[in-house]
Amino acid sequence: MHKKESGAIMRTFYPDYEFNNLIAPIVCNEEYQKTKKITHHGMTRYDHMVRVAYYSYKITKFCHLNYKATTRGAVLHDFFLEDYSDKKAKILVNHPKIALANSLKYFELNDLEQDIIKTHMFPCGKTLPRYLESWIVNIVDDFACFFERSYVIKESMSVGFSMIVLLFLVFVKRW
Ligand SMILES: [Fe+2]
Ligand SMILES: [Fe+2]
Repeated sequence: MHKKESGAIMRTFYPDYEFNNLIAPIVCNEEYQKTKKITHHGMTRYDHMVRVAYYSYKITKFCHLNYKATTRGAVLHDFFLEDYSDKKAKILVNHPKIALANSLKYFELNDLEQDIIKTHMFPCGKTLPRYLESWIVNIVDDFACFFERSYVIKESMSVGFSMIVLLFLVFVKRW
C-alpha cells in the first residue's frame, strides 16, 4: 500500500494550467498510468515523476530556458515499471536507459528530452548531462528523492511513536 500524500508540501495536484497541459498527453497514457501502482521512495513513482516535472518546469520557466521540453523529459525520467527493490544496485545505475527505451516506445522525444532522461542519475549513472536543463532536472530529482524519503521516515516514526504510546496506555491500564 502506498503512503497517502496530504497537505501543500506533498501535493499531487499542481494548480498550473500550462504545466497540466504539458504533462497531460504523457500522464494520460495507459502505460504511464501503471506507475501509480509502483512504490518509489516510499510513495508512488507517478507522484515522484510529476513532482520532479513541476519543480523543473518552474525553475526552467523562470530562467527562460526550454521549459516545455524540460517538463516532458522530467515527467518521463523514471518511466519504467520494474520495482527498485528487486535488483536494487543494478537498477539504480541502469534505470535511465530503461526509462529512455520505454519512453521512446510511447512518445516522440527530442534530443533535450532524451538527454534529461538518460543523464538524470549522473554521477551514479555515468552519462554526463549535455544541457543546463538536464542538470536542473538532475538536481531537482535529488532534492525530491531526499525530501520524499525524509517525509516517509518522519511518517513511519510518527506511526511507531503512536504504537509505543498505545502499548504504554494498554500496559498502564492493565496495572
Ligand atoms: Fe531515477
Ligand atoms: Fe527520480
